[in-house]
Amino acid sequence: MRFGHTLVPPGVFRRKLRKDSSQQCEFITNSDHTKDAGKEAIRTCNSYWNPQEPIEEYDIDQFILGMTSQITEREDTIITPDLRGFVFGGLDFSRRDLMAVNIQRGRDHGLPDYNTARKEFGLEPAESWADLSPNCNNETLIDGRKCDDTDFEVDDPCRMIVCLKEVYDGDLSSLFRTIIADQFARIRDGDRFWYENKLNGLFTDEQRVAINDTTLRHIILEITDIEEDELAGNPFFYLDTETKCNRIVGRARSEGYNISPGFNCTNSTTCQEIDQELRNENPNITDALVRRYADCDNTQLLAVDPCPRGTVNGSDINIVSPCTKLRTFDYFTGSEAPYILTFAAVGLFIILMIVLLLVTANINQSKIAEQRKAGRAESRRKSTDLSLHDVSEWQGQKEGERDIKVRMDIRKKSLLIFLPGQARPTRTIDCKRTDRLYAKESVDKARNFLLIRIPNEYDLVLKFDGPREKNAFLQSIKEFCEQTGITQRSAMLSQKELLAEAITKARRQHTLDKFFRIVFKHAFRIDDDGDMEALSDEDANAVINCELTIDEFADALSLKPSAMFVKNMFELIDKDKNGLVSFREFWT
Ligand code: HEM
Repeated sequence: MRFGHTLVPPGVFRRKLRKDSSQQCEFITNSDHTKDAGKEAIRTCNSYWNPQEPIEEYDIDQFILGMTSQITEREDTIITPDLRGFVFGGLDFSRRDLMAVNIQRGRDHGLPDYNTARKEFGLEPAESWADLSPNCNNETLIDGRKCDDTDFEVDDPCRMIVCLKEVYDGDLSSLFRTIIADQFARIRDGDRFWYENKLNGLFTDEQRVAINDTTLRHIILEITDIEEDELAGNPFFYLDTETKCNRIVGRARSEGYNISPGFNCTNSTTCQEIDQELRNENPNITDALVRRYADCDNTQLLAVDPCPRGTVNGSDINIVSPCTKLRTFDYFTGSEAPYILTFAAVGLFIILMIVLLLVTANINQSKIAEQRKAGRAESRRKSTDLSLHDVSEWQGQKEGERDIKVRMDIRKKSLLIFLPGQARPTRTIDCKRTDRLYAKESVDKARNFLLIRIPNEYDLVLKFDGPREKNAFLQSIKEFCEQTGITQRSAMLSQKELLAEAITKARRQHTLDKFFRIVFKHAFRIDDDGDMEALSDEDANAVINCELTIDEFADALSLKPSAMFVKNMFELIDKDKNGLVSFREFWT
């Protein structure tokens, strides 16, 4: 059925109603503001994208008149370029070759080869190109092969090509004809509303006759402003006067009537001239027969198109504009500056937002720090306990700071850490087992950091509101050390070094995790030496030199330090009885 694709012309003419153009045949040249400005036809390939446009722009009657005056393309192997590389493709952007699509679709649907299809439809198989088309000898086939019998391959699955070759002599192929007849018969027989189906009771006999007598010509006349004398007798067929006259003459001769050899048909031949010629050369001919041949009442050959125009020549630039080639758009080219500016603006915006966020966060942090500082100052002012120090504890990079109170308990030889508002210490740093205490001060920036290190405990990193507070704390530490017999060792370093060196709770926990993993593997004889090897030198050192307090030991067993089991176990492992268990003690 897709043979219709070979009939598609590269464009369509438009014609004015003759009553609008002084009874002349006036074909319309497209107006200036349209795509086909100055051309005589509307180009097919350029109308796919908005087919409504020409209809809205122009009068539909003009299209119908133009199309009835135009000759369609031949049924042959030549397809207008408008349907080759210019057919709309996927998403309306790309282009396709409709013939390639047709062939591919045939394969998709598993269509058989030409001769198999002929047999299916009860036709004799073709044995040579001549069987298909007598005129095609040595013509080139669509795919470049020669149309001679040495190259005869009708089992070619590209049945479309072979069938098109079959219509090469201008007549529809016997296979196509059979398929189309079969299709239309099926459409008719399968339609219970079909007008000829008397059983459906839809139409009377008169109505059936009326429907049968209704032609496309009648419909056009009914629904448009086109007058009778504007249209050919059969708008499906284009005939100029000369062709029509030649047909009449040929038919009369073939039926045994004489026409003189000197009688020449031209486009100005009239009915009367044919009428006269028939009567002159055939004295016995009846009036009825003359009317049958020269079917006219006036001076015109009535069935002929009153305004024949012929074919649309796709390569004539006066007739059609060229097909618009597929163009690809690179959104960057030509817009470099706006692109760069846009990206720069977006980048700048993001940077500005980040800076703004950082500044806001900084301001908020400062405000919070100020409030906490004010709170600590207020607490100090109200407090009568001079041994209690209100400070901020730095817990680590991620953990940040928190407000605490530190008391040095000389009697218990411990540093007690309290959270604001709590009576029980949140941490007790037991100094009984040590004779050393390290106090490291930051000396740059605000000089307000102090690191207190007691061996085998994680560090206490304090941040003071000012030098006065720090000095007061250092004084208390000094007195605490003097009274408890602990040697105080001091050091000065930069704030960065101090914070980097600090053994925070998280860092200590990390070391303890490694410690326990290795120790438990050893205890349960899990054969994997890789753990030690995987440790960095620093971690390995930390693990080997690590000594656990009873609190840490209890914590690892998820028990309380006061539990009997914990105490007994701890004592058992703590061979040197120094109140700490070391890696070596565990190992042995
Ligand atoms: C500008 C003119 C035309 C264009 C752009 C066109 C385009 C197309 C396209 C894109 C398809 C679908 C292809 C596929 O994906 O398989 C198609 C199918 C088809 N065309 Fe055309 N066509 C045109 C004219 C015609 C004519 C004049 C006829 C017949 C007289 C025709 C008959 C068919 C048939 C029968 C199909 C198959 C429909 C189906 O399988 O449902 N086409 N055409």
